[in-house]
Parts: sequence; structure tokens; C-alpha cells
Amino acid sequence: MRKKITIVGTGHVGATAAQLAAYKELGDIVLIDIIEGVPQGKGLDLQESAPLELFDTSIIGTNDYKDTANSDVVVITAGVPRKPGMSREDLLDINVKIVKSVTEQVVKYSPNAFIIVVSNPLDAMCHVAMKVGNFPKQRIVGMAGVLDSARMRAFIAMELNVSMDDVQAMVLGLHGDDMVPLPRYSTVSGISITELLSKEQIERIIERTRKGGGEIVNLLKTGSAYYAPGAAIVQMVESVLKDKKRVLPCAAYLEGEYGINGIFMGVPVKLGGKGIDEIIQIKLTGEEMAALHKSADDVKKTVGQIKL
Ligand code: 2OP
Repeated sequence: MRKKITIVGTGHVGATAAQLAAYKELGDIVLIDIIEGVPQGKGLDLQESAPLELFDTSIIGTNDYKDTANSDVVVITAGVPRKPGMSREDLLDINVKIVKSVTEQVVKYSPNAFIIVVSNPLDAMCHVAMKVGNFPKQRIVGMAGVLDSARMRAFIAMELNVSMDDVQAMVLGLHGDDMVPLPRYSTVSGISITELLSKEQIERIIERTRKGGGEIVNLLKTGSAYYAPGAAIVQMVESVLKDKKRVLPCAAYLEGEYGINGIFMGVPVKLGGKGIDEIIQIKLTGEEMAALHKSADDVKKTVGQIKL
């Protein structure tokens, strides 16, 4: 029996995630959106690529949540993206409404699904989905750290002119300008980048990583990034559906870990078949911990403005 993946929101992020998940045959895919015709059209188009890309996944598009029933994983990408000059927090009011109504439908038809939230402002939207859906904290995460770390990995590889294959990076904290890239835990074939790059080079990479989403928004002008976000979603979906137990930075609900309570934020988690197997607590310097707590304060401030 194939697994079932629902992707809510068929904009660029949802569609890219669907395409990559189909290519990897991770499961049958349901695309859902409120816009009539778009999920159906994108679903059919993607299905028609199957004989060319050689996959046997079924993909349907719908406007009816009944078709999403009993999904194993639900990815929530629904919401409005940023335009140049906007912060992710500027999307709060409108996306709270959207994520709330989406979650009510999701939980009605797939009460046992694993939930991946992608809508922005990410950490706050995770909060909305968890509260509205009443999901246990093991079964809901936000996608941000995998994306932010991928950006940092790309910048490190470009700076050093080395293979992307060999570069790892760790970015924790909120999905915003106060995210916390950790050079000490970022490596090229196990060698910390602090051994390979100057302070100035590392600072430049950190700054570009923090502003990575905004850099794309400013270039596209009409919306935000989708290739890297789509790939990041699929890495997380794969880890869950194949019970891979990958260790990935994800926005998880914290209850005391890193001294932070009652909010979602990016931390390293072990992601397996049942969802979050473990939140891994790595040793941080005083400076790194202070940056993480600054990030947590930002999230708390945004969450404090949510009216459900
Ligand atoms: C980004 O960083 C969309 O927030 C997402 O590109």
C-alpha cells in the first residue's frame, strides 16, 4: 500500500514539492487549494510527466478536503508570500486566518497525519496549526532549518569552490533575520569551516544565509523562493515516510530544551516514522545560546500577537 501525501497550497512551493516527491515515488499525492482548477491542472500535468520521468505515483488535484482523507503526511504551504520590502512577520494576520482554516479541515480528515508547516511567519504558523489541530508535539514540525542550512551549505561550497556533497551546515533558531547559523557545527568533510575560512568570509556567509529568503524575494519581485524550499520539504517527508531517522534542523515545539518553553523554533531533531523521535541538544557557547534566546524572544513576540 502506497503512502499518501497531501500538499495544501498549489503555488510554486507546493507544486515543486509535489514534483520532487513524485520523482522519488514517496507516495500518492493529493494537491489541494481553494482556487478551482489550479490543483487539478497542476496535478494532471505532473501525472502526465510520469511516463517520461518513470514514476508510478498517482497525483490528483482537488478543492475538496474529503480527497485528502487518511493522509500519512500533510504539508501546509498555503498562505500569502512576501513581496520585496516585507518581512515574514508582515504576513502574520492574513496567514493566521489561512492556516487556521486549513488546519481545521486537515485534522478533520487526517487526524493521525504528520504535519509539516511551511507557511510564514514559519515558527508562529506552527503554533497556530498545533493549537487549532491539537496535534501532539511529535507529529508537527516546521520546515525552515533544512532550507536555511541548505542555503548556508551552498554559500560555503561556492566560497571554497568544493563539492556541495561534502558540505554540512547547521542553522537553528527562528526562520527570520535573527536565525542562528552555527559555523562551529558547519563542516566540509568533517572539517569545521572555522578551520577553512577567515572570520570575514564566515561573517559574509552568515549574513547572506540570514537574508537568503529576502535575496530571492528581491530578485523575483512577485513572490518568494520555491526550488530550495520544495527540496527541503521533500527531504523531511522522505525521512518520515521511510523512517530514515535523519537528523535535520526543524522547527519543533520546545518544552524546556535549550532553556526555551512553549514555542516552536529550529533545533536539530531526529525525524522518523513516528515523527520527532528526539530533539537533540547540542552544546552551545554563551554567545550562541544568547543568539538562540534572542531568536526565541522574536518568536514569542510574534506568537503574542496571534488572535485565534
Ligand atoms: C524562504 O526563506 C519562503 O521563507 C521562505 O525563502
